[in-house]
Amino acid sequence: MNLKENMKSTNFKKAIRFTKHPAKVALAITKDIKGKVNLMTLEWFMRTSIKPPMLAISVGHTRYTHECLQNFRYFNLCIPSKEMVEEVKLCGTQSGKDIDKLEVTKLDWFKGRLCQLPILKGAVANFECEITTQIRSGDHTIFVGEVKHSWLNENRKILTYKDLK
Ligand SMILES: Cc1cc2nc3c(=O)[nH]c(=O)nc-3n(C[C@H](O)[C@H](O)[C@H](O)COP(=O)(O)O)c2cc1C
Repeated sequence: MNLKENMKSTNFKKAIRFTKHPAKVALAITKDIKGKVNLMTLEWFMRTSIKPPMLAISVGHTRYTHECLQNFRYFNLCIPSKEMVEEVKLCGTQSGKDIDKLEVTKLDWFKGRLCQLPILKGAVANFECEITTQIRSGDHTIFVGEVKHSWLNENRKILTYKDLK
């Protein structure tokens, strides 16, 4: 059998969908100019440095979160648990332009150490970040944040993209 025959040319969307699993999702938590907290579901995030520890998030230019991050240069990257499926769906389909997602989801939280952004109690992990760099990437901006404080709940299971289906 010639294995090479199985490798077929395709379009980008099909190839990227097929290869992305198992993918994690996260919540980017930030604040608007009036001080209202906003949460956004996010699939495009990654670690980008060991020392100092840094995390990058890619945020669409049309998102309310984008507007928030242009002013408020901090975000919490929250790794949600399986118990948070409904809240993650809501934060990925509704905009902070229209609703107060922290209020609507009724997620349990306490104030973080860096700039008092919420640390979600039911999550697996929370990383408090300060933005140090941003790069335009097509219709998104990559915000790179230095991790200042980390929080972990080892008793929770990580939610994956497939849990949202
Ligand atoms: C599973 C999932 C993953 C998503 N990943 C991203 C992402 O990586 N970047 C992004 O800009 N939007 C992403 N979105 C879309 C935003 O979460 C969505 O547009 C949200 O309503 C924006 O909220 P905001 O306007 O309050 O910022 C994702 C949505 C879902 C459901």
